[in-house]
Amino acid sequence: MQLNNKRMEQLKSDLKSLKVEAKLEIEKAEDLAKLNQVFKKYLGKEGEITRVLRSLGSIPKQNRMKVGREANELKNFLEKKIEEKKSSFVKTMENRKDWLDVTLPGKKPVLGHLHPLTQVRKKTEEIFQMMGFSVVEGPEIENEWYNFDALNIPKDHPARDLWDTFYLKLKDRQLLRTHTSPNQVRYMEKHQPPLRMIVPGNVFRHEATDFRHEFQLFQVEGLMVDKDISVPNFKAIIGEFFRRFFEKEVQFRLRPDFFPFTEPSFDISMTCLVCKGRGCSACKKTGWLEVAGAGMVHPNVFKNSGLDPKEWKGWAFGFGLDRLAMMKYKINDIRLLRSGDLRFLQQF
Ligand code: DAH
Repeated sequence: MQLNNKRMEQLKSDLKSLKVEAKLEIEKAEDLAKLNQVFKKYLGKEGEITRVLRSLGSIPKQNRMKVGREANELKNFLEKKIEEKKSSFVKTMENRKDWLDVTLPGKKPVLGHLHPLTQVRKKTEEIFQMMGFSVVEGPEIENEWYNFDALNIPKDHPARDLWDTFYLKLKDRQLLRTHTSPNQVRYMEKHQPPLRMIVPGNVFRHEATDFRHEFQLFQVEGLMVDKDISVPNFKAIIGEFFRRFFEKEVQFRLRPDFFPFTEPSFDISMTCLVCKGRGCSACKKTGWLEVAGAGMVHPNVFKNSGLDPKEWKGWAFGFGLDRLAMMKYKINDIRLLRSGDLRFLQQF
């Protein structure tokens, strides 16, 4: 009996000194890691207080309750102290300027996408490549020979006027190309027929802007040269291009036109898809929009490229990609395409 009392007294005094010791250690803990160590030391599975609670079995029932209650009270007391200390840590962290709550959801990065003109260019290249055309590039700064003379454009043609063409203050009257057609000559100079190629690229014109006109445009030049080439060939290829580009059947028409570098020449118009042919600002209320110029390559252009016009025949076209983009996406003002306005661009 005496031994049991002694045992109980021993446990009680253990609890007392554990309380003093643990309290001090909690107060001293300077970070969460230390605090966790203290928790483990006293309240963990192998901790001091757990040890006292476990050893209760070795003392008689009437005392066990008393010591048990004291041990539990100490356990609750220490748990509370540790929690308090923990939240004081969090508070001081939050008050720091560089406090970062890593549990907050992150900011989603804004994902961009290709510009509608780029999308349209890529689609055009893909379609023509599938039909056996090479995709080539040419310089944006041209000279008068390639931009005009080689294309049979006479010296007094109005397009050469200062009011239509941007001339650069460089030697030899260099200029910003007004169309992609110079690349017909550049390409034929270096390649032997049969030829199939397209040239996508920017062109520049000194002109007043409105719904359908811009001073910078995106064109795609096309050229096919072989022994036996005709307008029906051309119509078939363009029809196929439209079908794949718009992913549906669209109506288009060829009408006689004039270009010095083709004979005969025609313009290609298509039903305006903005208004479905009813007439709107995009199509000048006609229901049709001109999207390309085209024709059979003029003998003089062959000659200027070093090919014999008696031996070779060919057709060429120049599409306005901006206009195709307008039709594909139902855009009624060409100026929006280069406006850089995100409210517009985010729709594509
Ligand atoms: N280069 C002409 C323009 O910019 C368009 C054009 C017409 C291109 C007839 C051609 C063509 O290849 O054959 O207005």
